[in-house]
Amino acid sequence: MSDAEAITELAKRRGFFFGANGAYGGVAGFYTFGPQGATLKSNVEAAWRDRFTVKEGNEEIEAPTIMPEAVFEASGHLEGFDDMLVECGECGESHRADHLVEGETSIEEAESLPASEIEMLVRDHGIACPTCGAPLAGRDVEDFNLMFATSIGPGSGQPGYLRPETAQGIFVEFPRLKEYARNKLPFGVTQIGRAYRNEISPRKGIVRTREFTQAELEQFVNPERDEPDLSKVADVAVRLYPATEQEDEDGDYVRTTIGEAVAENVIANDWVAYYLGVAKKWYERIGVDTDRFRFRQHLSGERAHYAADCWDAESEIGGAHDAAELAADPAAGDWIEIAGFAYRGDYDLSKHGEYGDDEFTVFEQYDEPKTVERAVVDPDMSVLGPEFGGVAGDVADALRSLAERNPDAFEGETVTVEVDGEEYAVDADAANFRVEEQTETGEHITPHVVEPSFGVDRTVYTLVAHAYSEDVVDEEERTYLDFEPGIAPTDVAVFPLLSDEELESLANRVVDDLRTAGLSVTYDESGNIGRRYRRQDEVGTPFCVTVDHEGIEGGGPETVTVRERDTTAQVRLPVSDLATRIEAIHAGEESFETLLDEYESVQTDVSKS
Ligand code: GAP
Repeated sequence: MSDAEAITELAKRRGFFFGANGAYGGVAGFYTFGPQGATLKSNVEAAWRDRFTVKEGNEEIEAPTIMPEAVFEASGHLEGFDDMLVECGECGESHRADHLVEGETSIEEAESLPASEIEMLVRDHGIACPTCGAPLAGRDVEDFNLMFATSIGPGSGQPGYLRPETAQGIFVEFPRLKEYARNKLPFGVTQIGRAYRNEISPRKGIVRTREFTQAELEQFVNPERDEPDLSKVADVAVRLYPATEQEDEDGDYVRTTIGEAVAENVIANDWVAYYLGVAKKWYERIGVDTDRFRFRQHLSGERAHYAADCWDAESEIGGAHDAAELAADPAAGDWIEIAGFAYRGDYDLSKHGEYGDDEFTVFEQYDEPKTVERAVVDPDMSVLGPEFGGVAGDVADALRSLAERNPDAFEGETVTVEVDGEEYAVDADAANFRVEEQTETGEHITPHVVEPSFGVDRTVYTLVAHAYSEDVVDEEERTYLDFEPGIAPTDVAVFPLLSDEELESLANRVVDDLRTAGLSVTYDESGNIGRRYRRQDEVGTPFCVTVDHEGIEGGGPETVTVRERDTTAQVRLPVSDLATRIEAIHAGEESFETLLDEYESVQTDVSKS
């Protein structure tokens, strides 16, 4: 069984995730998270919220998932949010043309190539339809818009779309959000929510689906002034794969720190660099294997229509290569994009300012008021009125606007303006043109946006893939998931060793204590203890607590055993200490080793009991 198959099988059997709507035959690209998966996903979201919203001092919002067409006309998604589709002439099945090319050639990012080149590659490599095997040479490669269309309201209603990214919900609310930020840049707004894309070929389970969860942060900055505190991440070690290295046949990784990468201009934007550093530490903390993790810069043809520069966080999910191979060869491994860090410039706010009926700018106060020269006109309406009649007001407005744009136009005896396609010549004296000194206290600017955008489902998949481990315990093969405490769906499992009233009563008290301490606890009394351990190992529960007779006999304080998942080491400790100690490990304040040092180690294998 390949790694991907083993993960899919485990995910389904143990309730992480599985294809949705199975009773009705299922529809590709839609997944249900089962009890383990939903909790794991929610723990990832909580960890993301804590790091990117709370610790960064940002604000979170929740916007609708359906938005009117005008939003996507402005954002450019209606026009340009396309993937390359090729349809088989034989069976009629549609496929993502760039992915077919990637599968049959050594090209890694075929998305960056024009459709005409993809058509040539399909022909030259004899690429066939993956469904029926018919050759695809000669078939057109077409743009396919990924948005799901809908109709808002009864009848033909108003056209709308399910949002393809949570980001637009933040951009369109910018005029209100800037007020909550007291009109002061920089500020950041986050959102965790569903996004929808009508993917041509959903694949790899929850890696490419048609409905998924994003966690996005829009950082609004004044590009002339605002800088991140790079000292917080300067020492973070990163493995970078810049565009120049990808384009070079012998290209290699750049292993560096965030501080050095900025100093040497490998990462051009300081805000992007800052968030790459924060993200690297966050991924490490939630359990991503850093030997299977890198940041790859987008090639120029690959960037989204709004992005000036973009780096992706990528994880390796194939598992067929060891750390040394993955370090030596950037082409080795099965890499997926789990987050994008884009410098979007002022693209989004300028577009919504152009199309929407609101102010998408911020008034930036100068440190000191500035005296500036301004060209102004004060048209004499007693001349313009009789001369131009009903359009006199529009001619006056056109003169005012021309003075701002092109003061030199007022140098002659007459000045010509255009109103509704008609030209009007105005006597320069009647325009009353002059240059005045004015004092200004600030200016309206359109903020620039830096956007870390995380795929939650792909992060969950990565955590399962990187946690997936196999070993032999007590001469038996075992599969376990080595999730970090705090990320694992269940924190502790509690077992009474035998079916016995006294043991069950204490076990239930232990469960209550642990739950009161805020831990997620499962109680299991079925099957032999070895099987119960295996069940918990497979869902990645870090600790199993067993209540046995030794712990309640002898008249001393009640004790239980605690078994750590990865090492299977056990200690016996008083029930009165249990919740506080596990809670401390869960919070990252101490480790199981400290328990091993402090308490009696248990050598007997209770799994044989
Ligand atoms: N607002 C920017 C944006 O949406 P993106 O690179 O298109 O950028 C961000 O998406 C993240 O969303 C990706 O890095 C990926 O993790 C996740 N994602 C995108 N399409 C997905 C899909 N079809 N299924 C699952 N996750 C997806």
